[in-house]
Order: sequence, then C-alpha cells, then structure tokens
Amino acid sequence: MSVLDIKIYKTAEPKVKPTVEEEASLGFGTTFSDHMFVMEYDSDKGWHDARIVPFGPIPFLPSAAVFHYGAEVFEGLKAYRTADGKVQLFRPEENAQRLYNSAERLCIPAVDPADFLEALNALMEVEKDWVPKSFGTSLYLRPFLFATDPALGLHTIHHAMFVIIASPSGSYYKEGINPVKIMIETQDVRAVRGGTGYAKCGGNYAAANRAGYKAEQKGYTQVLWLDGVHQKYIEEVGAMNVMFKIAGKIVTPDLIGTVLPGITRKSCIELLKEMGYEVEERRISVDEIVEALENGTLEEMWGTGTAAVVSPVGHLAYKDKEYCINNNEIGPVTQKLYDELTGIQWGKKEDTRNWIKTVK
Ligand code: PLP
Ligand code: COI
Repeated sequence: MSVLDIKIYKTAEPKVKPTVEEEASLGFGTTFSDHMFVMEYDSDKGWHDARIVPFGPIPFLPSAAVFHYGAEVFEGLKAYRTADGKVQLFRPEENAQRLYNSAERLCIPAVDPADFLEALNALMEVEKDWVPKSFGTSLYLRPFLFATDPALGLHTIHHAMFVIIASPSGSYYKEGINPVKIMIETQDVRAVRGGTGYAKCGGNYAAANRAGYKAEQKGYTQVLWLDGVHQKYIEEVGAMNVMFKIAGKIVTPDLIGTVLPGITRKSCIELLKEMGYEVEERRISVDEIVEALENGTLEEMWGTGTAAVVSPVGHLAYKDKEYCINNNEIGPVTQKLYDELTGIQWGKKEDTRNWIKTVK
C-alpha cells in the first residue's frame, strides 16, 4: 500500500489523443489529459482521500477562501518522451520542494515533497500515453494547492486541496525557438523583499497582468520586471528568469527573495559553468544593460523556464527606445544551452547529473 493510498477511478469515456500531425499545433496549456490527481486537507485529519479521477470541474462553495484572498500556490514541470518511447521527468524533486516552500510562505497546509512525488508518479503511470511523441512537445504537469475554507473571515487556513492536471503541449511562445520581444516595465512592480516574489503563487501573476496587457498591446511578448524598491535592478520576465552575455561573461540576477528560483535557471547555470563560461549571479542595473546595448557588448540575452525552455530575446524596449539584440537571431550560447538542456530532457543526451526520473 502506498503512503497516500491513492484510489484510481478511470474515465469510461477516454478522449481521442492528438495525432503526431496534430502535435505540431498543440500550443500551450489548452488541451487536457483524461485524468487528474486530487486530495484534500482538513486540519483534524491531515491530507486524505488521495485519488485519480476523470479530468473535470471541481465544485466549491462561493465562500471558499481561494476565491477571495488568493491563497494558491502552484508548480509547472514536464514529462518528456524519448526516442525509444520512455517517459521521463526533469528534476521533479525540485518542484516538490519549491511547492513546499511556496506553501510555507502563504501559510497554506504544505504537501510533503515525498507525497507530491508519489502523487505525480501515480498520475503519470495512468496518463503516460498522453505524453506526445514529437521533439519539442511534452506533457506539461500543473500541480496546484489552494485554501478551501468556506468563510470570509481572515483566519488560519484549515482546509485545502491539492490537484495535478496534465496538458499535452508544444511551444509556450508562438515564436517557438525564435527570439521574443520584451519590454522593461517602468511603472508596476512584481515583488519586494519580504513579499511573495520567490513563491510560485497565483497572486504574483495576477499582479503582473496589467503590465503584461500593456506590453501585449504594444506588440511585446512579456515584460521584464525591475526591482520593487528602486526600479533600477533587473529581476525576471513574466514566465522566465533571464540571463545576459556581456563581453563574454554570463550574468543573471541573484536570488534575494524577489525572483522565482527557477529550476531551469539553476540547471542552466550548472551547464554553462561546465561548458567553461564564467557565470555571475548578482545585482544588474538597467543602466548597465542599456550601456552594454549601446556600446555593443551585450552579445546575447535569453530567458529560462519550464514552459519557455531556453528562449532568445531579440528585442528589448526601455522607456522610449527599442534595442535589437544579436540581429534578432538566436546567439551561439543560447543555442548551445538550448541543445544541451533539451537534449537531456528528451533523452538525446546522456543524463550524467541524475536530473532525469524515468516513469514506470
Ligand atoms: N520566473 C517566473 C515568474 C516563472 O513563472 C517561471 C516559470 O515557472 C520561471 C521564472 C522559471 O522557473 P522554472 O525554470 O522553474 O520553470
Ligand atoms: C512554467 O514555466 O512552468 C510556468 O509556470 C510559467 C507559467 C506562467 C506558464
């Protein structure tokens, strides 16, 4: 018997899975697999009723706390299919720990990382045929955890739910691996020290909506956030961490509590160091970036994220100026990093770091 004692209730009406031809136009996060994992928390019982059920609506009272006060945290990771048909996860224990840390910040009953992994593996065993086959596609897994207390008072959370859904997905950006256009946001801020910047909580993304909307109206893919105090230092992009190559050196903002500690970021730093690049994690002022853009030493810029993978940035706008980076082409380091990371994830390259967990 598993620790969670997961019950499995399979659908009587399985959906038709995308064909290999249809996989090319999957996009991101709009198609869902047949099943989802669900379990509930009550303070007098702990986590209970772990189950895999058909994907479908989850009913709540309109008074449920998550609707009013945004007590929600989530994760994002992918299951990849290798050429020989195996299904594998990339560093899932990192997601399990980050969800735990996020829940701790929002004071939502946390899911033990071992239970997270057990739930994920159980769902993957049921849904592995949903992992698409083409290179560049994957089964995007979205674990999320939220408060369900049915009362409007602001109190300690006593009831919660943990769910994992799965979505066969292709590229996150419509640009694919082609460079994206990013705008530096100069009005709204995403996070301040002591806030929830490092947690993966829905509220951070809600607070980002207005700037994202403005950027989209102007033809940009996402915004690049500046720090919340001085609006001077580079933080991260809406759905990815950022890295720059300036005069041969790689620089990326350090983690001081305001930026999401990306698992792709962490992995890329390790890969870059192994490739022999010097990587600096530090405060980077927007003035330093503008100067490097103007004097031609900003050689490459890219974002890193589970959904975004390694994504080159071809245009960067700040105030009333737009700069083109590396002729709006993917740069050599960005390409090398993309090839190395995706090579490991899709099983084309050997996993020498124990990053890959094969699904049974
Ligand atoms: N920053 C933000 C705000 C994100 O939403 C994401 C995506 O999860 C990332 C960074 C990258 O994190 P990871 O590489 O763990 O997916
Ligand atoms: C991910 O990359 O997994 C994310 O959660 C980003 C999301 C905003 C799509």
